[in-house]
Amino acid sequence: MPIANAFLTPAQFDREYFYEMATASCPACHTFQIVDQPDPRQMFHEHYAFFTRSSKRMVAHFADYAVWVADQFLKEADPFVVEIGCNDGAMLENFAKRSIRHLGIEPSANVAAEAERHGVRTKVAFFGMQAAREVREGNGPADAIIAANVICHIPDINEIARGVGHLLADRGVFVFEEPYLGAMIEKGSYDQIYDEHVFIFSAHSVHNAFQPHGLELIDVVPQATHGGSMRYVLAKQGAYEPAPAVRQLLAREQELGLNDPATYDAFRERCERSRKALVGLVRSLRAEGKRVVGYAATSKSTTVLNYCGLGPADIEFISDTTPLKQGKFTPGTHIPVRPHEDFSANFPDYAVLFAWNHEAEIMEKETKFMDSGGKWIKFVPEVAVS
Ligand code: TMP
Repeated sequence: MPIANAFLTPAQFDREYFYEMATASCPACHTFQIVDQPDPRQMFHEHYAFFTRSSKRMVAHFADYAVWVADQFLKEADPFVVEIGCNDGAMLENFAKRSIRHLGIEPSANVAAEAERHGVRTKVAFFGMQAAREVREGNGPADAIIAANVICHIPDINEIARGVGHLLADRGVFVFEEPYLGAMIEKGSYDQIYDEHVFIFSAHSVHNAFQPHGLELIDVVPQATHGGSMRYVLAKQGAYEPAPAVRQLLAREQELGLNDPATYDAFRERCERSRKALVGLVRSLRAEGKRVVGYAATSKSTTVLNYCGLGPADIEFISDTTPLKQGKFTPGTHIPVRPHEDFSANFPDYAVLFAWNHEAEIMEKETKFMDSGGKWIKFVPEVAVS
């Protein structure tokens, strides 16, 4: 597999970086993960292509997330909030606007600069013990350390736990949300697996990762975002009484078989069936002379395209609203990425909905495509045309 967000130019085709993307579920701690992770510096740097603000719904979601954290946990005077991986500041901006002390720790300088432009204070660094020490020295302990779609990106989970333990105030909380393993297994959404998602967490694996560091899982709140996510709330051991939802989710995961190796064998077979169905569908449409394009050059699409072996002969181009991706080519499969105007100026017969997790938002704005007779190709939970 190539790096999911490493959109490239033809001049870079012959020196593209690939790694072996094999997954495993640990029988001891029940963590689902990528076995060999590419070097994080290959992924998070000054040319990082993903901007949170590219989805209006996610921006609204982060405003709600910020209010939820503030209402539940920021009850002390002059609280201090730290976000790990603040990207372009879409979440922290909500604290900045209320003059709440905050700091975003973000390794990708380009997105951090965008956060600064929105009034968000940032520190360009990877989060770990060193950053935690510096932040605590300069600002005092954090009442809330928050993250979204970030903790699963960081291979050294123990370093995160140590840093969080050091930076957190005694009654502080560590809140993060990520794509949820239970949702991936239920939906067959194998495209959640890519370099940035080193871990796909469950309540079991979060408990097992943080408990040895004195951090206790005190609440879990399911989220509809990213095709099914989970918000985890942790605090120093004994600081809060865990909510009943924690016990309930742990029991539900046992029922779902998330700790049972047979579940992953069945999941692999489902992925293989999905690949066969998607490739079969796209190639038969192409054989009929239909135009097939992709909708949104998501990180997840890199897994689908490379796993299925779909290239420019199958998919004419992928429409995407992110200027940094436009004019480039998809990692590994080298399909052109074009602005949304290329899609709307000449609607294709079919569009593969790579951003299926943003389906509601996309259906709302693409009525003209559907009115033109255009059809969507979906592949989660099953390959289907609609
Ligand atoms: P992600 O799934 O990796 O978070 O990336 C989402 C990508 O989808 C991002 O490049 C922007 C693109 N996108 C569109 O092009 N159109 C849309 O309507 C939406 C919601 C996203």
